[in-house]
Amino acid sequence: MEGEGECSDNPFTSVMTLTKMRVPHVPQRYVLPPSQRPTLALDLTTTLPIVDLSTLHHASQRSLTLDTIQGACKELGFFQVVNHGIPLPVIHDALAAATEFFNLSLEEKMTLLSDNVHNPVRYGTSLNHASDKVHYWRDFIKHYSHPISDWIHLWPSNPPSYKDKMGNYAKAVQVLHKQLMEAILETLGLNFGNLQKEIEEGNQLMAINCYPACPEPDLTLGMPPHSDYGTLTVLLQSGPGLQLQDNKKKWLSVPFVEGALLVQLGDQIEVMSNGQYKSVVHQVTLSAENKRLSIASLHSLPINKKIGPAPELVDEQHPVSYNEFSFRDFLDYISSNDIADKRFIDSIKKSV
Ligand code: OGA
Ligand code: NI
Repeated sequence: MEGEGECSDNPFTSVMTLTKMRVPHVPQRYVLPPSQRPTLALDLTTTLPIVDLSTLHHASQRSLTLDTIQGACKELGFFQVVNHGIPLPVIHDALAAATEFFNLSLEEKMTLLSDNVHNPVRYGTSLNHASDKVHYWRDFIKHYSHPISDWIHLWPSNPPSYKDKMGNYAKAVQVLHKQLMEAILETLGLNFGNLQKEIEEGNQLMAINCYPACPEPDLTLGMPPHSDYGTLTVLLQSGPGLQLQDNKKKWLSVPFVEGALLVQLGDQIEVMSNGQYKSVVHQVTLSAENKRLSIASLHSLPINKKIGPAPELVDEQHPVSYNEFSFRDFLDYISSNDIADKRFIDSIKKSV
């Protein structure tokens, strides 16, 4: 099947296939209206926060670090972390497993192809190849990852080392995410203990993304502007390309820091905090020269758990600003709505 491309009867074409065919232009379905095209060369005027997580374990430094995290959450909705406890070899192995997976033949990858967002494991391209009006220059494999013993048998069995390498990284990120949740809830004055069980039993969806070099990176995107639905996302990337919007809707390029991970707040934290923190809008730009890989670990409370504003953060000056929602509600929403058109979080905001 590889190489048949757009002329095939099969409507599925991966961007890896287009890249292998060396298409000189992006096919029309990838071309965005001019107003939605990215600015590729943003100047890096802002220094983005980098948090040394090892300081959280030192009583004398912890409160200063929490202040930095609080500032980053309020102003930007994201920060990078270093000394996060995940060894570099584990990170490199996960990226190597991802590289090998996307290098497999299309036929092999197609065994996991699905456009059903409720499937716990699925391979695909763009956001959803079956329904996207405009296509995005991305291939992906997504899989539920926690508790790992419930899901790992469904993960790709090729390359043979995939389960081991991605599994080690998945388990390490799950641990890291718990520490981050503890710190972030503390900055909101919320009791971690009350939510601990649901955080531990929450959902972890890993989105492993592949953005091959693109012949016309100024016309298209790897992913459109969106925020993630969960509590937080921990993102590992192999190179630059991610852009984030600050609270003045200005796009910022995330500098690539080897070994660092990016923490992004999702819609569940925005709702829990009753709007004190906002989920961060982000998009992925492309490069004409380089392929980029990313592994986004999207964490959320258990799939059916309805999340509303924390009662401690609601008073007369701060009335309830959001309706409750669960991860399942989000999946139902994206089954019938295009998140490139309208943000999910806008559908649950209470009108004032
Ligand atoms: C995502 C996402 C960013 C990236 O998977 O939700 O935003 O850099 N990924 O791949
Ligand atoms: Ni995202």
